Amino acid sequence: MFKPIARTATRALTLRSVAATRTTSFVRPLSHTAALSKKDDPTKDPLLAATNKAPEGASGEHEGQFARTDQSVHIEYPPDHEMPAQPVAQGRGGMHFKRTLAQFSLEKKVSIVTGGARGLGLVMGQGLVASGSDLAIIDLNKDEADTAAASLVEQFRKENPGLEDMPNVTAHYADVANPDSVNNALAEVLSKHGQIDNLVTSAGFTENFDAINYPFERMQKLWGVNVDGTYLFATGVAKHLMERKASGSIVMIGSMSGAIVNVPQPQAPYNAAKAAVRHLAASLAVEWAGHDIRVNCISPGYMLTALTRKILDENPQLRDHWTSLIPAGKMGTPEDLMGAVTFLLSDASKYITGADLRVDGGYTVT
Ligand SMILES: NC(=O)c1ccc[n+]([C@@H]2O[C@H](COP(=O)([O-])OP(=O)(O)OC[C@H]3O[C@@H](n4cnc5c(N)ncnc54)[C@H](O)[C@@H]3O)[C@@H](O)[C@H]2O)c1
Repeated sequence: MFKPIARTATRALTLRSVAATRTTSFVRPLSHTAALSKKDDPTKDPLLAATNKAPEGASGEHEGQFARTDQSVHIEYPPDHEMPAQPVAQGRGGMHFKRTLAQFSLEKKVSIVTGGARGLGLVMGQGLVASGSDLAIIDLNKDEADTAAASLVEQFRKENPGLEDMPNVTAHYADVANPDSVNNALAEVLSKHGQIDNLVTSAGFTENFDAINYPFERMQKLWGVNVDGTYLFATGVAKHLMERKASGSIVMIGSMSGAIVNVPQPQAPYNAAKAAVRHLAASLAVEWAGHDIRVNCISPGYMLTALTRKILDENPQLRDHWTSLIPAGKMGTPEDLMGAVTFLLSDASKYITGADLRVDGGYTVT
């Protein structure tokens, strides 16, 4: 009882004396920076020399060392007798019959890949077909989608000589940013395949503009394809799954740009669009979890597609800059996404939803 009363009384006195001090004309500052200003020459103050007040080089040879690799770290490859025992790897016994977990199979599934005529979408589609799925390629470029569908089946035939059951791979036109076009494409896929189980949204593109000068219509188009297109296809497929009372899996292709800011090229709208895609996946994962519809995101780093190859051939300095920032030391290939997308669509990831799987050679963890 006594203590709280004493504390209240002391606090009241303190507040009164503070109020009194505030009304006087001379107020002693609570802190003053005289000591700091005296030493304001960074070269004389070792702490100041380590701040951004100091000119470059003032903090000595160690400057930036924690943001760069340290060449003095030396770990030798151990001699043979010090080598730990290596367990044998399973499932590498043959060209076409590699033992693997059955959960990774996509047999009897129908998957859609938007933007599947080219680039990452095409190769991811190939991975799904190799894993047992039928495939509907959706693209703005219908001719290229037709050619892609035919060559996927042809490649499958070559890799699986003697197999009679060929995958059903179809091609369909859609502008993913247009709701009517998306609905028409979904109806067409259903008429050809009878059902849809999985979706990969790979239609998307990037542009490098400084934000001030990015034409507004182009920015709207960029967001339209990357964000609206992802949303429209995801909701369309989820609606179908709910009507069928079937489980399903959706993988949205985001980008590491949704989590970090790439350098040196400016691309603020793209980065923001990909951040939206990542959080859309998480949000829909929660919204549809009760329907057994999983939604995940794959965020690729710099991948070498025909398009990026062309850009980098024309800008070799950009390629050097990029690869210097990737811990793996090299860009990824579209094939590096085959396993990631198959995993997230298959039962092997049945308890994974709302996740962002970064396939970026370690870029975003540095
Ligand atoms: N290549 C990379 O380094 C990289 C890195 C991270 C993320 N990504 C993302 O991966 C996805 C695929 O990129 P990519 O490198 O394969 O690009 P790409 O240009 O090679 O292929 C994109 C495909 O999408 C199609 N497309 C574009 N707009 C469309 C629309 N409105 N409707 C339907 N289809 C449309 C194109 O015709 C094309 O076939 C994109 O979302 C991209 O942002 C790419």
